[in-house]
Amino acid sequence: MRNPFCATELPVTAPFCDREKESEELESHAVNRANVVLYSPRRYGKTSLVKRVQARLAGKGTITI
Ligand SMILES: Nc1ncnc2c1ncn2[C@@H]1O[C@H](COP(=O)(O)OP(=O)(O)O)[C@@H](O)[C@H]1O
Ligand SMILES: [Mg+2]
Repeated sequence: MRNPFCATELPVTAPFCDREKESEELESHAVNRANVVLYSPRRYGKTSLVKRVQARLAGKGTITI
């Protein structure tokens, strides 16, 4: 059987659970040029969340690195 779990960071096109509030907050901080520290134990979804926020910002013409 194919393993249904994704072992690497999620591509921005993969299904993503919730994090709507966090995404909006991070997007707002980015647009306002505010520095934010994201911390959690590993594999709680920090990188996947940031990649998604970057994709949302790119869709609105904001360049991120
Ligand atoms: N919102 C989410 N919905 C579904 N899966 C998620 C979500 N956030 C994280 N994951 C899963 O957790 C894994 C680890 O996420 P990752 O972004 O690499 O964590 P971190 O950067 O905090 O170590 C991803 O590969 C993905 O399978
Ligand atoms: Mg990470």
